[in-house]
Amino acid sequence: MMTTHSNSELKSVLMQAVQSAGDFILSKFKTTFKVDHKDGINNLVTEVDTASELLIINIIKKHFPDHGFIGEEYGDANMEATYKWVIDPIDGTVNFAHGVPLCCVSIGVLYQDELILGAVYNPMMQELFFAEKGKGAFLNDQAIVVSKHAVLEKAFLVTGFPYNFPEDVDPVKVFAYFAQRKYPLRRLGSAALDLCWVAAGRFDAFWEYNLQPWDIAAGMLIAQEAGAICTTFDGSPLEIYSKQLLVSNSHLHQALLNEINVAIQS
Ligand code: IPD
Ligand code: CA
Ligand code: CA
Repeated sequence: MMTTHSNSELKSVLMQAVQSAGDFILSKFKTTFKVDHKDGINNLVTEVDTASELLIINIIKKHFPDHGFIGEEYGDANMEATYKWVIDPIDGTVNFAHGVPLCCVSIGVLYQDELILGAVYNPMMQELFFAEKGKGAFLNDQAIVVSKHAVLEKAFLVTGFPYNFPEDVDPVKVFAYFAQRKYPLRRLGSAALDLCWVAAGRFDAFWEYNLQPWDIAAGMLIAQEAGAICTTFDGSPLEIYSKQLLVSNSHLHQALLNEINVAIQS
């Protein structure tokens, strides 16, 4: 029989997991650890990534032995489960491996495949982002909302480049299009933080391609709960398995979608 849990019960385990993993990665930051790579010599994975994911899985399993997982390092498990935890044990691994403090732990919770809770913790900056569906988004317990900027030409933008470039869109072409038009444009190296920084109103918009569910899940709920519009490049609602993403405030979203599509065709 399907067991259901209250959101507060789930939230308490989510907080325990994200904070323990955050404290763990902070304790290993700028120490010596084994660094390996996946497909692509710069697609790094460290022993801290795998240990962090194991730590998270073990905390969740202790409380909810029948839940499923969609994790970056240990893969999918128990995908038939009513509840699934979507885990990025370090988002921004390349930053982490080089001692750059722009990295975080990201965990989203799915109930019947719908996002209900998300937490993103950057222990280096002591910033914990959290959202519960329908209840708003928070940074260290303070409510956050997206920016109110409406002037396209002054939009403060962030993007990222996937390890595997998509075949249908050239990310460099789109980047160049905005850079040539003198938009203030950044590339932080952590998609989960990019999403949360849009949620907090620091950036006006974030776009990227070929992200994975663990990059997107928690940050997407946090951004939505902070008032962001989240779509693919054709304007369809964003899903955790979507291969393109544009997240921005409601004033800029349509104009940025137009610009991205013009850039793609250019
Ligand atoms: C990466 C980061 C980066 C994004 C890449 C992701 P990882 O995740 O989120 O910002 O550009 O596409 O794969 O490998 O650091 O967990
Ligand atoms: Ca990631
Ligand atoms: Ca990762």
